[in-house]
Amino acid sequence: MYPFKEGCFAPRNGWYVAAFSHELRRELLSRWILNEPVVMYRTEAGEAVALDGRCPHRHFPLGKGCLKGDEIQCGYHGIRFGADGQCTHIPSQQKVPGSYRIKKYPIAERGEWVFIWPGDPQDADEALLPDLDASGYGDPSFRFKPFYALEVEGRYQLLNDNLLDLTHLAYLHGTSIGVDDNASTPEQREERENVFKSRRYMKNAPIPPSQQGQYGYDGPVDRVAGMDFYFPGFHAGLDEIKMPDDHPTRGGEQLSALRVFHAVTPGKRDTTNYFFGMGGAMSDEEFDGAREYLRPVIEEDVMATREIEKMLTTIGYEPKELMIASDAGGVRARRKLQAMMDREEGES
Ligand code: FES
Ligand SMILES: [Fe+2]
Repeated sequence: MYPFKEGCFAPRNGWYVAAFSHELRRELLSRWILNEPVVMYRTEAGEAVALDGRCPHRHFPLGKGCLKGDEIQCGYHGIRFGADGQCTHIPSQQKVPGSYRIKKYPIAERGEWVFIWPGDPQDADEALLPDLDASGYGDPSFRFKPFYALEVEGRYQLLNDNLLDLTHLAYLHGTSIGVDDNASTPEQREERENVFKSRRYMKNAPIPPSQQGQYGYDGPVDRVAGMDFYFPGFHAGLDEIKMPDDHPTRGGEQLSALRVFHAVTPGKRDTTNYFFGMGGAMSDEEFDGAREYLRPVIEEDVMATREIEKMLTTIGYEPKELMIASDAGGVRARRKLQAMMDREEGES
């Protein structure tokens, strides 16, 4: 499906964010991930569990059942499954066949992020997780706050495309976090095996509207904005602002250094699980303020995604795109995702 080859949806062998850690509790959480129903919870010992969310008996959503200890009891005919996916109890018969089981997904919990591996469990290599330390997680002053977990009405690649072309900041977010320089500054890109990096170094750029009046200075600043895209769906962004080096008294002073994290996880074919959080050496009050001022900004990205999805669905065919220079990173990332899907197809 657009923008991938006919019949291709998403790579399965990769770590995607399934939830924020605090969302997993002693109750069932249902979420569609790569067009599969998934049900998640924590065991009494606190271990995060993700299982197939469809009861194999009559396909009732297991998320509409309940927990009995560490087991899920289906809400339709009461069949139970353990945290390993094995059926433990069928109320209407004595014998439980050993083959009566549901899929258990590999999970890796890192700080507030719960990653899931939808592909072959044998290939679930934790060395392939995003390098959170590279985004500041290892720094003693670094704090992270999860802000929003959203279900967006649009296919996931529209959100990846959005994050891989930050020139949109100047226009879609032109009244809040963006300035013209976000679009006019050339992008520097670097591609590694598992991560694509993008940076824009802006000189003498205006302070973004949302940050004006905060630093006792509203003149031109030096700014670096960028994003690291860890395949297949985790974007770690940075936005650093400092005083211009030639300022007579405050030259080079750091005014802000923010980290933003966007996780893009395919939901149904035309929906996305979108997780957003922020990090930095910030106080609770600063996090609270950022959570509020960024809410409408993220809503602008959600609106754009929703509108493009509506456009594609309504016209009913896959239109040709007229690419421009700023699409380079996005196009390279699409190619890599397609190559991951091709490889999986070949292996299967
Ligand atoms: S559908 Fe789940 S027990 Fe029958
Ligand atoms: Fe955006």
